[in-house]
Amino acid sequence: MAHDATPQPATARRSRSLAGTVRIPGDKSISHRSLMFGGLASGETRITGLLEGEDVLRTGEAMKAFGARIERNGDEWVVQGVGNGCLLEPDAPLDFGNAGTGSRLTMGLAGVYDMPTTFVGDSSLSKRPMGRVLDPLRLMGVQVKSAAGDRMPLTLRGPKTAAPIVYRVPMASAQVKSAVLLAGLNAPGVTTVIEPVMTRDHTEKMLRGFGAALSVETDADGVRTIRIEGRGRLTGQTIAVPGDPSSAAFPLVAALVVPGSDVTIENVLLNPTRTGLIATLQEMGGQIEVMRRRNAGGEDVADLRVRGSELKGVTVSAGRAPSMIDEYPVLAVAASFAEGETLMQGLDELRVKESDRLAAVANGLKANNVDCEEGHDWLAVRGAPEGRGLGGGTVATHLDHRIAMAFLVMGLAAEHPVTVDDRAMIATSFPEFMDLMTGLGAEIE
Ligand code: S3P
Repeated sequence: MAHDATPQPATARRSRSLAGTVRIPGDKSISHRSLMFGGLASGETRITGLLEGEDVLRTGEAMKAFGARIERNGDEWVVQGVGNGCLLEPDAPLDFGNAGTGSRLTMGLAGVYDMPTTFVGDSSLSKRPMGRVLDPLRLMGVQVKSAAGDRMPLTLRGPKTAAPIVYRVPMASAQVKSAVLLAGLNAPGVTTVIEPVMTRDHTEKMLRGFGAALSVETDADGVRTIRIEGRGRLTGQTIAVPGDPSSAAFPLVAALVVPGSDVTIENVLLNPTRTGLIATLQEMGGQIEVMRRRNAGGEDVADLRVRGSELKGVTVSAGRAPSMIDEYPVLAVAASFAEGETLMQGLDELRVKESDRLAAVANGLKANNVDCEEGHDWLAVRGAPEGRGLGGGTVATHLDHRIAMAFLVMGLAAEHPVTVDDRAMIATSFPEFMDLMTGLGAEIE
Protein backbone atom coordinates (compact mmCIF):
# COMPACT_ATOMS: atom_id res chain seq x y z
CA MET A 1 0.00 0.00 0.00
CA ALA A 2 0.95 3.63 -0.47
CA HIS A 3 2.15 4.10 3.11
CA ASP A 4 5.20 1.90 2.56
CA ALA A 5 5.96 3.17 -0.95
CA THR A 6 8.52 5.78 -2.08
CA PRO A 7 7.40 9.29 -1.03
CA GLN A 8 5.60 11.29 -3.72
CA PRO A 9 6.28 15.01 -3.24
CA ALA A 10 3.89 17.66 -4.61
CA THR A 11 4.23 21.41 -5.09
CA ALA A 12 1.52 24.08 -5.16
CA ARG A 13 2.04 27.51 -6.73
CA ARG A 14 0.28 30.84 -6.54
CA SER A 15 -2.77 30.41 -8.75
CA ARG A 16 -5.20 32.66 -10.56
CA SER A 17 -8.66 32.92 -9.02
CA LEU A 18 -10.35 29.55 -8.47
CA ALA A 19 -13.77 29.05 -10.04
CA GLY A 20 -16.31 26.31 -10.49
CA THR A 21 -18.75 23.97 -8.79
CA VAL A 22 -17.54 20.80 -7.12
CA ARG A 23 -18.95 17.84 -5.23
CA ILE A 24 -16.69 16.47 -2.57
CA PRO A 25 -16.56 12.79 -1.57
CA GLY A 26 -18.67 11.21 1.14
CA ASP A 27 -18.16 11.87 4.83
CA LYS A 28 -15.46 9.63 6.25
CA SER A 29 -17.06 9.17 9.67
CA ILE A 30 -20.42 8.19 8.19
CA SER A 31 -18.78 5.98 5.53
CA HIS A 32 -16.88 3.92 8.11
CA ARG A 33 -20.03 3.49 10.17
CA SER A 34 -22.17 2.60 7.14
CA LEU A 35 -19.97 -0.38 6.28
CA MET A 36 -19.52 -1.36 9.89
CA PHE A 37 -23.15 -1.19 10.99
CA GLY A 38 -24.34 -2.58 7.65
CA GLY A 39 -21.92 -5.49 8.04
CA LEU A 40 -23.24 -6.14 11.54
CA ALA A 41 -26.98 -5.73 10.91
CA SER A 42 -29.26 -8.48 9.63
CA GLY A 43 -30.19 -8.25 5.97
CA GLU A 44 -29.15 -5.81 3.30
CA THR A 45 -27.72 -2.29 3.59
CA ARG A 46 -27.46 -0.16 0.45
CA ILE A 47 -25.08 2.80 0.50
CA THR A 48 -24.68 5.62 -2.01
CA GLY A 49 -22.07 8.37 -1.79
CA LEU A 50 -19.65 6.17 0.15
CA LEU A 51 -16.16 7.62 0.48
CA GLU A 52 -13.96 5.19 -1.44
CA GLY A 53 -10.79 6.26 0.38
CA GLU A 54 -8.24 3.76 1.63
CA ASP A 55 -9.26 4.11 5.27
CA VAL A 56 -12.90 3.28 4.60
CA LEU A 57 -12.08 0.41 2.25
CA ARG A 58 -10.02 -1.14 5.04
CA THR A 59 -13.04 -1.06 7.31
CA GLY A 60 -14.93 -2.85 4.53
CA GLU A 61 -12.21 -5.51 4.36
CA ALA A 62 -12.39 -5.97 8.13
CA MET A 63 -16.17 -6.44 7.99
CA LYS A 64 -15.70 -9.04 5.24
CA ALA A 65 -13.22 -10.85 7.48
CA PHE A 66 -16.00 -10.99 10.12
CA GLY A 67 -18.34 -12.65 7.59
CA ALA A 68 -20.19 -9.74 5.93
CA ARG A 69 -20.60 -9.64 2.14
CA ILE A 70 -19.78 -6.27 0.60
CA GLU A 71 -19.97 -5.48 -3.09
CA ARG A 72 -19.99 -2.41 -5.26
CA ASN A 73 -22.84 -2.46 -7.70
CA GLY A 74 -22.68 0.58 -9.98
CA ASP A 75 -22.98 3.67 -7.78
CA GLU A 76 -24.17 1.67 -4.85
CA TRP A 77 -22.43 -0.44 -2.22
CA VAL A 78 -24.48 -3.42 -1.13
CA VAL A 79 -23.74 -5.04 2.21
CA GLN A 80 -25.18 -8.31 3.52
CA GLY A 81 -24.69 -8.23 7.28
CA VAL A 82 -24.09 -11.12 9.66
CA GLY A 83 -26.60 -10.12 12.36
CA ASN A 84 -25.80 -8.53 15.73
CA GLY A 85 -23.81 -10.92 17.92
CA CYS A 86 -22.80 -13.09 14.96
CA LEU A 87 -19.37 -11.81 13.85
CA LEU A 88 -17.07 -14.66 12.77
CA GLU A 89 -13.46 -15.02 13.85
CA PRO A 90 -11.16 -13.46 11.23
CA ASP A 91 -8.62 -15.81 9.62
CA ALA A 92 -5.81 -13.25 9.69
CA PRO A 93 -4.81 -9.98 11.41
CA LEU A 94 -6.95 -7.00 10.35
CA ASP A 95 -4.76 -4.36 8.67
CA PHE A 96 -6.25 -0.90 9.22
CA GLY A 97 -3.48 0.99 7.41
CA ASN A 98 -3.61 4.64 8.52
CA ALA A 99 -7.14 4.55 9.97
CA GLY A 100 -7.71 5.48 13.60
CA THR A 101 -11.49 5.53 13.30
CA GLY A 102 -11.75 2.17 11.55
CA SER A 103 -9.44 0.44 14.00
CA ARG A 104 -10.76 1.97 17.23
CA LEU A 105 -14.41 1.46 16.41
CA THR A 106 -13.74 -2.11 15.33
CA MET A 107 -11.92 -2.77 18.62
CA GLY A 108 -15.16 -1.93 20.40
CA LEU A 109 -17.32 -3.83 17.95
CA ALA A 110 -15.33 -7.09 17.97
CA GLY A 111 -13.17 -6.90 21.11
CA VAL A 112 -15.98 -8.11 23.37
CA TYR A 113 -16.48 -11.31 21.34
CA ASP A 114 -15.09 -14.52 22.81
CA MET A 115 -12.54 -14.92 19.99
CA PRO A 116 -9.13 -13.45 19.21
CA THR A 117 -8.98 -10.46 16.85
CA THR A 118 -5.62 -8.94 15.89
CA PHE A 119 -5.22 -5.33 14.76
CA VAL A 120 -2.26 -4.02 12.77
CA GLY A 121 -1.60 -0.73 10.99
CA ASP A 122 0.99 1.47 9.30
CA SER A 123 3.79 3.24 11.15
CA SER A 124 1.58 6.28 11.91
CA LEU A 125 -1.28 4.18 13.35
CA SER A 126 1.17 2.02 15.30
CA LYS A 127 2.35 5.12 17.17
CA ARG A 128 -1.13 6.23 18.20
CA PRO A 129 -2.47 5.57 21.71
CA MET A 130 -5.06 2.80 21.87
CA GLY A 131 -5.32 2.73 25.68
CA ARG A 132 -8.20 5.20 25.49
CA VAL A 133 -10.28 2.43 23.87
CA LEU A 134 -8.66 -0.55 25.57
CA ASP A 135 -9.27 0.77 29.11
CA PRO A 136 -13.09 0.65 28.92
CA LEU A 137 -12.91 -2.67 27.04
CA ARG A 138 -10.84 -4.13 29.88
CA LEU A 139 -13.60 -3.05 32.29
CA MET A 140 -16.00 -5.10 30.16
CA GLY A 141 -13.78 -8.17 30.55
CA VAL A 142 -11.66 -7.99 27.40
CA GLN A 143 -8.12 -9.39 27.49
CA VAL A 144 -5.52 -7.33 25.66
CA LYS A 145 -2.10 -8.25 24.30
CA SER A 146 -0.44 -5.18 22.83
CA ALA A 147 2.85 -3.54 21.94
CA ALA A 148 4.36 -1.26 24.61
CA GLY A 149 2.15 1.64 25.71
CA ASP A 150 -1.09 -0.02 24.52
CA ARG A 151 -0.15 0.37 20.89
CA MET A 152 -0.65 -1.76 17.79
CA PRO A 153 -0.10 -4.52 16.86
CA LEU A 154 -2.57 -5.81 19.41
CA THR A 155 -4.87 -8.76 19.98
CA LEU A 156 -8.18 -8.65 21.84
CA ARG A 157 -10.18 -11.51 23.27
CA GLY A 158 -13.53 -10.98 24.94
CA PRO A 159 -14.98 -12.98 27.85
CA LYS A 160 -17.82 -15.53 27.56
CA THR A 161 -20.21 -12.71 28.43
CA ALA A 162 -19.11 -9.08 28.36
CA ALA A 163 -20.06 -6.90 31.34
CA PRO A 164 -22.07 -3.76 30.55
CA ILE A 165 -20.42 -0.69 32.08
CA VAL A 166 -21.06 2.94 32.90
CA TYR A 167 -18.20 4.88 31.33
CA ARG A 168 -17.38 8.56 31.48
CA VAL A 169 -15.27 9.43 28.45
CA PRO A 170 -12.16 11.19 29.81
CA MET A 171 -11.29 13.15 26.65
CA ALA A 172 -13.41 14.69 23.87
CA SER A 173 -13.36 11.69 21.54
CA ALA A 174 -16.12 10.37 19.32
CA GLN A 175 -14.00 7.31 18.64
CA VAL A 176 -13.85 6.33 22.31
CA LYS A 177 -17.55 7.02 22.82
CA SER A 178 -18.36 4.96 19.75
CA ALA A 179 -16.11 2.04 20.69
CA VAL A 180 -17.86 1.68 24.07
CA LEU A 181 -21.33 1.92 22.52
CA LEU A 182 -20.43 -0.70 19.91
CA ALA A 183 -19.03 -2.99 22.59
CA GLY A 184 -22.33 -2.49 24.44
CA LEU A 185 -24.17 -3.97 21.46
CA ASN A 186 -22.79 -7.37 22.42
CA ALA A 187 -23.15 -7.11 26.21
CA PRO A 188 -26.33 -8.11 28.07
CA GLY A 189 -28.28 -5.19 29.63
CA VAL A 190 -27.58 -1.49 29.34
CA THR A 191 -24.17 0.05 28.64
CA THR A 192 -23.96 3.75 29.54
CA VAL A 193 -21.57 6.32 28.13
CA ILE A 194 -21.32 9.72 29.78
CA GLU A 195 -19.99 12.37 27.46
CA PRO A 196 -19.07 15.64 29.24
CA VAL A 197 -18.31 17.46 25.98
CA MET A 198 -20.39 16.65 22.93
CA THR A 199 -18.52 15.18 19.97
CA ARG A 200 -19.81 14.10 16.56
CA ASP A 201 -22.97 12.08 17.07
CA HIS A 202 -23.00 9.86 13.98
CA THR A 203 -22.79 6.62 15.96
CA GLU A 204 -25.83 7.50 18.07
CA LYS A 205 -27.91 8.68 15.13
CA MET A 206 -27.00 5.82 12.84
CA LEU A 207 -27.34 3.03 15.41
CA ARG A 208 -30.86 4.27 16.14
CA GLY A 209 -31.54 4.21 12.41
CA PHE A 210 -30.44 0.55 12.33
CA GLY A 211 -32.92 -0.19 15.15
CA ALA A 212 -30.73 -0.16 18.28
CA ALA A 213 -32.45 0.72 21.56
CA LEU A 214 -30.36 3.81 22.26
CA SER A 215 -31.36 6.90 24.24
CA VAL A 216 -29.61 10.21 24.86
CA GLU A 217 -30.25 12.60 27.74
CA THR A 218 -28.53 15.98 27.95
CA ASP A 219 -28.38 17.83 31.28
CA ALA A 220 -28.33 21.58 31.90
CA ASP A 221 -24.51 21.63 31.62
CA GLY A 222 -24.56 19.87 28.26
CA VAL A 223 -23.35 16.55 29.69
CA ARG A 224 -24.82 13.74 27.62
CA THR A 225 -25.79 10.33 28.98
CA ILE A 226 -26.11 7.74 26.23
CA ARG A 227 -27.62 4.36 27.02
CA ILE A 228 -27.62 1.39 24.71
CA GLU A 229 -29.42 -1.89 25.27
CA GLY A 230 -27.20 -4.81 24.23
CA ARG A 231 -28.03 -7.83 22.14
CA GLY A 232 -30.88 -6.20 20.21
CA ARG A 233 -31.62 -6.76 16.57
CA LEU A 234 -30.16 -4.41 13.98
CA THR A 235 -31.72 -4.29 10.53
CA GLY A 236 -30.08 -3.24 7.23
CA GLN A 237 -30.77 0.30 6.01
CA THR A 238 -30.53 2.50 2.93
CA ILE A 239 -27.97 5.25 3.43
CA ALA A 240 -27.02 8.28 1.32
CA VAL A 241 -23.69 9.55 2.64
CA PRO A 242 -23.44 13.37 2.49
CA GLY A 243 -20.24 15.19 1.46
CA ASP A 244 -17.50 15.40 4.07
CA PRO A 245 -17.15 18.86 5.66
CA SER A 246 -13.59 17.95 6.69
CA SER A 247 -12.70 17.44 3.00
CA ALA A 248 -14.77 20.43 1.85
CA ALA A 249 -12.52 22.47 4.16
CA PHE A 250 -9.65 22.35 1.64
CA PRO A 251 -11.32 23.81 -1.48
CA LEU A 252 -13.23 26.12 0.88
CA VAL A 253 -10.13 27.69 2.43
CA ALA A 254 -8.42 27.70 -0.97
CA ALA A 255 -11.29 29.77 -2.39
CA LEU A 256 -11.12 32.20 0.55
CA VAL A 257 -7.39 32.84 0.32
CA VAL A 258 -6.93 32.97 -3.48
CA PRO A 259 -8.14 36.49 -4.40
CA GLY A 260 -11.13 36.75 -6.75
CA SER A 261 -12.19 33.11 -6.33
CA ASP A 262 -15.82 32.01 -6.57
CA VAL A 263 -16.38 28.32 -5.81
CA THR A 264 -19.51 26.36 -4.97
CA ILE A 265 -19.19 23.13 -3.00
CA GLU A 266 -22.30 20.98 -3.21
CA ASN A 267 -23.95 18.61 -0.75
CA VAL A 268 -21.84 19.32 2.35
CA LEU A 269 -22.86 17.72 5.67
CA LEU A 270 -23.77 20.46 8.16
CA ASN A 271 -24.37 18.36 11.28
CA PRO A 272 -23.85 20.93 14.08
CA THR A 273 -21.10 18.78 15.64
CA ARG A 274 -19.06 19.32 12.46
CA THR A 275 -19.50 23.00 11.53
CA GLY A 276 -16.94 24.76 13.75
CA LEU A 277 -14.66 25.64 10.84
CA ILE A 278 -17.39 27.36 8.83
CA ALA A 279 -18.43 29.43 11.86
CA THR A 280 -14.82 30.38 12.57
CA LEU A 281 -14.06 31.37 8.98
CA GLN A 282 -17.23 33.47 8.87
CA GLU A 283 -16.09 35.24 12.05
CA MET A 284 -12.78 35.89 10.29
CA GLY A 285 -14.67 37.68 7.53
CA GLY A 286 -14.84 34.77 5.09
CA GLN A 287 -17.64 35.08 2.56
CA ILE A 288 -19.32 31.69 2.84
CA GLU A 289 -22.93 31.57 1.77
CA VAL A 290 -24.94 28.57 2.91
CA MET A 291 -27.38 27.75 0.10
CA ARG A 292 -30.18 25.21 -0.39
CA ARG A 293 -30.05 24.00 3.20
CA ARG A 294 -32.02 20.76 3.34
CA ASN A 295 -32.44 17.54 5.27
CA ALA A 296 -31.15 14.32 3.73
CA GLY A 297 -31.37 11.02 5.58
CA GLY A 298 -31.69 12.75 8.97
CA GLU A 299 -28.73 15.10 8.43
CA ASP A 300 -28.58 18.78 7.44
CA VAL A 301 -26.78 19.33 4.17
CA ALA A 302 -26.27 22.44 2.04
CA ASP A 303 -24.25 23.89 -0.83
CA LEU A 304 -21.57 26.41 0.11
CA ARG A 305 -20.69 29.35 -2.13
CA VAL A 306 -17.28 30.69 -1.19
CA ARG A 307 -15.61 33.85 -2.45
CA GLY A 308 -12.10 35.20 -2.09
CA SER A 309 -12.09 37.26 1.13
CA GLU A 310 -9.91 39.49 3.24
CA LEU A 311 -9.63 37.61 6.52
CA LYS A 312 -8.85 38.93 9.97
CA GLY A 313 -7.46 37.03 12.96
CA VAL A 314 -9.76 35.78 15.75
CA THR A 315 -9.53 33.79 18.97
CA VAL A 316 -10.90 30.27 18.62
CA SER A 317 -11.80 29.04 22.09
CA ALA A 318 -11.28 25.49 23.33
CA GLY A 319 -15.04 24.89 23.38
CA ARG A 320 -15.09 24.89 19.61
CA ALA A 321 -12.40 22.23 19.19
CA PRO A 322 -14.63 19.12 19.10
CA SER A 323 -16.69 20.56 16.22
CA MET A 324 -13.63 21.22 14.05
CA ILE A 325 -10.96 18.90 15.41
CA ASP A 326 -9.76 17.75 11.98
CA GLU A 327 -9.84 21.26 10.50
CA TYR A 328 -7.07 23.01 12.48
CA PRO A 329 -4.33 22.40 9.90
CA VAL A 330 -6.30 24.18 7.20
CA LEU A 331 -7.56 26.85 9.62
CA ALA A 332 -3.92 27.60 10.45
CA VAL A 333 -3.36 28.06 6.71
CA ALA A 334 -6.31 30.48 6.48
CA ALA A 335 -4.89 32.33 9.50
CA SER A 336 -1.55 32.68 7.67
CA PHE A 337 -3.28 35.01 5.19
CA ALA A 338 -5.34 36.95 7.76
CA GLU A 339 -4.67 40.40 9.11
CA GLY A 340 -3.55 40.13 12.75
CA GLU A 341 -3.31 37.17 15.10
CA THR A 342 -5.41 34.01 15.24
CA LEU A 343 -5.18 32.16 18.55
CA MET A 344 -6.39 28.54 18.61
CA GLN A 345 -6.90 27.06 22.06
CA GLY A 346 -7.70 23.62 23.47
CA LEU A 347 -5.65 21.67 20.92
CA ASP A 348 -4.34 18.84 23.14
CA GLU A 349 -6.11 16.16 21.08
CA LEU A 350 -4.18 17.29 17.97
CA ARG A 351 -1.09 15.70 19.51
CA VAL A 352 -2.51 12.19 18.94
CA LYS A 353 -3.91 12.40 15.41
CA GLU A 354 -2.37 10.78 12.30
CA SER A 355 0.69 12.82 13.29
CA ASP A 356 1.38 15.17 16.20
CA ARG A 357 -0.64 17.68 14.21
CA LEU A 358 0.12 20.63 16.41
CA ALA A 359 3.88 20.20 15.89
CA ALA A 360 3.49 19.26 12.22
CA VAL A 361 1.41 22.39 11.52
CA ALA A 362 3.74 24.71 13.45
CA ASN A 363 6.81 23.27 11.71
CA GLY A 364 5.14 23.55 8.30
CA LEU A 365 4.19 27.16 8.99
CA LYS A 366 7.71 28.03 10.13
CA ALA A 367 9.23 26.33 7.07
CA ASN A 368 7.09 28.68 4.97
CA ASN A 369 7.96 31.85 6.81
CA VAL A 370 4.70 32.18 8.76
CA ASP A 371 5.02 34.00 12.07
CA CYS A 372 3.61 31.53 14.63
CA GLU A 373 4.04 30.20 18.14
CA GLU A 374 3.24 26.69 19.39
CA GLY A 375 2.17 26.13 22.99
CA HIS A 376 1.47 22.80 24.68
CA ASP A 377 -2.20 22.98 23.63
CA TRP A 378 -2.44 26.18 21.59
CA LEU A 379 -1.20 27.77 18.42
CA ALA A 380 -0.92 31.46 17.57
CA VAL A 381 -0.55 32.53 13.93
CA ARG A 382 0.13 36.06 12.78
CA GLY A 383 -0.90 36.33 9.16
CA ALA A 384 0.61 38.06 6.14
CA PRO A 385 -2.28 39.44 4.04
CA GLU A 386 -1.93 38.55 0.35
CA GLY A 387 0.62 35.92 1.37
CA ARG A 388 3.49 38.43 1.23
CA GLY A 389 6.78 36.66 1.89
CA LEU A 390 5.12 33.30 2.58
CA GLY A 391 6.09 29.94 1.08
CA GLY A 392 9.34 28.59 -0.27
CA GLY A 393 9.48 25.67 2.16
CA THR A 394 9.08 21.91 2.16
CA VAL A 395 6.64 20.44 4.68
CA ALA A 396 7.15 17.10 6.45
CA THR A 397 3.72 15.43 6.35
CA HIS A 398 4.49 12.50 8.70
CA LEU A 399 2.00 10.20 6.89
CA ASP A 400 -0.79 12.69 7.63
CA HIS A 401 -3.25 13.39 4.79
CA ARG A 402 -4.58 16.60 6.29
CA ILE A 403 -1.12 18.11 6.71
CA ALA A 404 -0.43 17.39 3.03
CA MET A 405 -3.70 18.93 1.78
CA ALA A 406 -3.55 21.96 4.10
CA PHE A 407 -0.07 23.01 2.93
CA LEU A 408 -0.88 22.46 -0.74
CA VAL A 409 -3.72 24.94 -0.17
CA MET A 410 -1.21 27.36 1.33
CA GLY A 411 0.92 27.21 -1.82
CA LEU A 412 -2.00 28.42 -3.97
CA ALA A 413 -1.88 31.88 -2.40
CA ALA A 414 1.61 32.22 -0.91
CA GLU A 415 4.17 34.39 -2.68
CA HIS A 416 6.49 31.40 -3.19
CA PRO A 417 5.62 27.75 -3.96
CA VAL A 418 4.99 25.28 -1.14
CA THR A 419 6.14 21.66 -1.39
CA VAL A 420 4.90 18.71 0.69
CA ASP A 421 7.23 15.73 1.04
CA ASP A 422 4.56 13.11 0.34
CA ARG A 423 1.06 13.33 -1.04
CA ALA A 424 0.38 9.58 -0.97
CA MET A 425 -1.71 9.64 2.20
CA ILE A 426 -4.24 12.01 0.64
CA ALA A 427 -5.81 8.84 -0.81
CA THR A 428 -6.85 7.76 2.69
CA SER A 429 -9.60 10.37 2.88
CA PHE A 430 -9.83 12.38 -0.38
CA PRO A 431 -8.58 10.44 -3.42
CA GLU A 432 -10.02 13.04 -5.82
CA PHE A 433 -8.23 15.98 -4.16
CA MET A 434 -5.64 16.70 -6.88
CA ASP A 435 -8.08 16.48 -9.81
CA LEU A 436 -10.76 18.45 -7.99
CA MET A 437 -8.37 21.24 -7.06
CA THR A 438 -6.71 21.49 -10.47
CA GLY A 439 -10.19 21.48 -12.03
CA LEU A 440 -10.88 24.70 -10.08
CA GLY A 441 -7.69 26.23 -11.47
CA ALA A 442 -5.23 25.32 -8.72
CA GLU A 443 -1.64 24.90 -9.83
CA ILE A 444 -0.46 21.74 -8.10
CA GLU A 445 1.94 19.19 -9.54
C1 S3P B 1 -13.80 10.55 14.23
C2 S3P B 1 -13.51 11.14 15.42
C3 S3P B 1 -12.40 12.09 15.61
C4 S3P B 1 -11.82 12.58 14.29
C5 S3P B 1 -11.66 11.47 13.30
C6 S3P B 1 -13.01 10.83 13.01
C7 S3P B 1 -14.93 9.63 14.14
O1 S3P B 1 -11.37 11.43 16.33
O2 S3P B 1 -10.58 13.22 14.49
O3 S3P B 1 -11.11 11.94 12.08
O4 S3P B 1 -15.37 9.30 13.01
O5 S3P B 1 -15.44 9.21 15.19
P1 S3P B 1 -11.31 11.44 17.96
O6 S3P B 1 -12.38 10.60 18.48
O7 S3P B 1 -9.95 10.87 18.27
O8 S3P B 1 -11.42 12.89 18.33
